[in-house]
Amino acid sequence: MIIRFATVLSLLTVSMSTQAQQPTPAQPTAAAQPATPPRPAFAQRKVELTQYPATPVPDRIILSIGANPATTMGVNWRTDTTVTAGYAEIKIATAAPEASDAVRIPSVVTPLLLEDSRAHYHELTFTNLQPETLYMYRVGDSVNRSEWVQFRTAATTFKPFAFLYFGDAQNDHKTWWSRTIRAAGQRQPDAAFMLHAGDLINRTNVDTEWGEWFYAGGWLHSMIPALPTPGNHEYYRDDNRKLTLTKHWRPLFNMPLNGPAGLEEVAYYVDYQQVRIISLSSQALLLNPTDSISQVKWLEEVLQNNPQQWTILTMHHPVFSTGEGRDNESLRNAFQPLFEKYHVDLVLTGHDHTYGRGIDETSPHTKKTALKGPVYVVSVSGPKMYVHSLKPWLQRAAVNTQLYQRVIVEEKKLRMESYTVAGELYDAFDIVKKGNGKKELIDWAPGLTKEKLELPETYRNRFTQQEKAAYEKRKKDYLDRKQ
Ligand SMILES: [Fe+2]
Ligand SMILES: [Fe+2]
Repeated sequence: MIIRFATVLSLLTVSMSTQAQQPTPAQPTAAAQPATPPRPAFAQRKVELTQYPATPVPDRIILSIGANPATTMGVNWRTDTTVTAGYAEIKIATAAPEASDAVRIPSVVTPLLLEDSRAHYHELTFTNLQPETLYMYRVGDSVNRSEWVQFRTAATTFKPFAFLYFGDAQNDHKTWWSRTIRAAGQRQPDAAFMLHAGDLINRTNVDTEWGEWFYAGGWLHSMIPALPTPGNHEYYRDDNRKLTLTKHWRPLFNMPLNGPAGLEEVAYYVDYQQVRIISLSSQALLLNPTDSISQVKWLEEVLQNNPQQWTILTMHHPVFSTGEGRDNESLRNAFQPLFEKYHVDLVLTGHDHTYGRGIDETSPHTKKTALKGPVYVVSVSGPKMYVHSLKPWLQRAAVNTQLYQRVIVEEKKLRMESYTVAGELYDAFDIVKKGNGKKELIDWAPGLTKEKLELPETYRNRFTQQEKAAYEKRKKDYLDRKQ
C-alpha cells in the first residue's frame, strides 16, 4: 500500500501554482544585531519594514490547539527583542476579579530576526489542565502584561461542539479578511478552534502580512485556538532552492509534534471530543518526494489506528479542484482510495479561491445520497477571487464570494454550514451515520439562496468576449446538470 502511494506520488505532476518567493538571505545571529533592522546587503532591492513592529507589550497572542485539548493548550505571543524572558499566568476562571493564586509558567523565547522586522516570540504549553473547564490566563513579564483571557478545555468523551473553517485568507487581511473572521467569531463565539486551510498570508516571510492577519482577528486568536495547515504561500525556496516553511510558522504557532520528522507543526493530528482532525502539508507532499512518502505512510498509520468517531482531514490543495484549469489528478489518485478505505468524513481545503462542495468525480444532485467516501470542500475567506471550473463533481459552488464555514459535530451527524460574509447561509449539508455502518449525505443547498456564479470584476474587465462566452456556457452546463 505504502509503496504504491509512494510510486504514485513520485509521479505527481504539479499542476498547481507553486509560490515563487524571493529567496530570503541567511539571517545574522541575535548577538550581532543592531537595534533596528539592517539595510539589505544588496541595496537594489528595497525592503519595506513591517507596518506592525513589535513593542515590549505582548501582542499576536494566539492559542494553538494541542494534541490532547482536554488537558493541554498552547499559547504564543510576541514582544520586541528587549524582552528576553516572559511568562504566562493561568488559573481556573472565576467571576471574582482576583488572580493571586494563578500559576506562573516561563516562556521559551525564539528570536525572529528578518530583514523587515525583529521580534522575540514566546511560546509555552499549558499542561495538566482539567477537562471541560474554563481557564483564564495572561501573558507578559514583570513590566508589561496582556489582559486576562479565557478559554475552555475540551471534554474527554464525546460532546457536541462546533468549529470554524476558513479557506485562503491570503491578501488584504486588514481591508477584507477582517470582516470574515469577525463574522465567524460572532456566529460561533465558543468555537472549539479555527481551522485555517492554508495560504494564511501571501508573501512568505513578509511580517506586515502576519501583522494584518492578527489585526483582522484581534483578540479572537487569543480565545479560540488555531488549527492551521500550510499552503503554497507559506513556503519559499531558500538559497539552496530547498522548499522551506515560512520563518513565522513555528515561532507563531504551537501545534502538536506528532507528525513525521521534518514536518513538525504542519503535519499533525488532534483528537477533539471523539473527532480526529488531521493536517497534512500538501505543498511539501507535492514538491518533496521524501515528504510525500513520509506523509502518506504516516497518514495511513494515523487512519488505521483511529478510535475516534469522526475523521476530518485538512490540507491546502484540493482533491477535486474548483479553479479553472486546475486539476490535481495525481493527488486525487493517491488519496481518494485511502480516504474511502479508512472512512474519512470530511476533507477541507483551499487554494482555488472559489467555493465548491461535492463527493466524487461526478456527484449526484439528490436530497439524500449514500456516501462511500468523504465530502470534499474548497473554500475562500479572503478577497482574492478566481474563475470557477464548475466541474461535474460539484453539488454547490460559488464565485466571487467571501465565505467561512461552521462545522457542527454531533454523535451521529456532522453538519457543515457555509456562510457568506454578508450573513447568508449559502450552503449546508449533513453527514449522517446510519445504524448499519453506512453514511448518508443530506443536502440542504437546494432550499438556500441562488448560487453566486457571476465572474469577479477583475475577470469581467479582463476577459475577451470569447472568454466570457465560454464561462457563460460552462455556467449553463453546470446549472443544467443540476436540473
Ligand atoms: Fe491561495
Ligand atoms: Fe494556494
